[in-house]
Amino acid sequence: ATDLAGRHLLKELDFTAEEFRGLIDLAAELKAAKKAGTEVPRLRGRNIALIFEKTSTRTRCAFEVAAADQGASTTYLDPSGSQIGHKESVKDTARVLGRMFDGIEYRGDSQAAVEELAAYAGVPVFNGLTDDWHPTQMLADVLTMTEHCAKPLERTAFAYLGDARFNMGNSYLVTGALLGMDVRIVAPRAYWPADDIVARARKAAELSGARVTLTEDVAEGVRGADFVATDVWVSMGEPKEVWAERIEALSPYAVTMDVLRATGNPDVKFLHCLPAFHDLGTKVGRDIHAQYGLTELEVTDEVFESAHSVVFDEAENRMHTIKAVLVATMSGPE
Ligand code: CP
Ligand code: NVA
Repeated sequence: ATDLAGRHLLKELDFTAEEFRGLIDLAAELKAAKKAGTEVPRLRGRNIALIFEKTSTRTRCAFEVAAADQGASTTYLDPSGSQIGHKESVKDTARVLGRMFDGIEYRGDSQAAVEELAAYAGVPVFNGLTDDWHPTQMLADVLTMTEHCAKPLERTAFAYLGDARFNMGNSYLVTGALLGMDVRIVAPRAYWPADDIVARARKAAELSGARVTLTEDVAEGVRGADFVATDVWVSMGEPKEVWAERIEALSPYAVTMDVLRATGNPDVKFLHCLPAFHDLGTKVGRDIHAQYGLTELEVTDEVFESAHSVVFDEAENRMHTIKAVLVATMSGPE
C-alpha cells in the first residue's frame, strides 16, 4: 500500500509524481472495494478535525463520508464555531488540536495558515482549499481523467480556460506539469498564474517531460485536448464588484459547444470542480442575470448537461481520493 504515514497534504508539488500516482491507485482500489462491499476499515479509533473558514459542500462531505467508511470520527469546526483566527492564533490552535486529533483538515484563504498549522500540529494536516492551491481536488480530477481516457497521463492533453490566477488554475498547471501531461492554460494574459508558479511548473515539467503552454488563443489552446476544464470567474472571498471586469475579460473563454468542437476530439470530456454557474439555479446566478442579463457564465448549460461532462464522477471522486489521503497518511501498519 502507498505509505505516506505522517505526511501533510499542503500543495501538489510537495509530492513526487510517484507518490501522487500512488494516491490515485489507492483511491481506485478503495473505490472498487466500496462498490464491491469489501472495504476494510483501516482508521478505527482515529479522530479528524475539519476546520472550514469558508463554505463547502463536496470537501466537507467527502472528508466526513471517507472517515466514516474507514471507521474514523470527524469534528466539524465552522468559522463561527471555533476560536481560530479570532481569539486564538493558528499556532496555538495547531498545538491544541494536535493533542486531541490524529489529523486536521483546513480550508481558508491563507496558504500560510495551513502551513503554520502543519508546522505546529504534530499530526498530518490536509489543505481543503486555500486561495493558492486545491490539492485534494487535483487528486479527484486526475482519478477522473484516468477513468475517462484510455491513454496514459503522459499522452493526455488538458486545457484549463478562465481565471487561472487562483487555486484551480495554479493547481492544474503544477499537477499537469508534475504528472508529465500536455497542460495548457488558456486565458487573457492578466489571468495567467503568477510568474513564480509558472516557473515551478516549468521546473517540474523538465523532470516529467510535461508540455506547459500558456496562451490567450482559445482555438490553439484547446486543439487536440482530451479534457477541457474551467472554474467560477469569481472565487469565495472575492467582492461582487469584480463581476463586471471578469465577465468582460473572460466571456470569450467560456466553455461552449464550439470550444469543445474546436478540440477536434469527439470524445473530449469536460471537468469542473463545482459549484458551477450554468443556469439560474442559484441565488448568485439570478443576481448576475438581473444585473448583466446572462444565464450562464464559465460554462454553458448545454456543455454542462452533455455527454462530454464528467463533473459528477469528478465530484464523487472527491470522496474516494480524500479517503486515500486519510488511509495513506493516518493508518498504522497493516
Ligand atoms: N469543489 C469543491 O471544493 O467544492 P466545495 O466548495 O463544495 O467543497
Ligand atoms: N476557485 C473556487 C474553487 C471552489 C471549489 C473558489 O476558491 O471559490
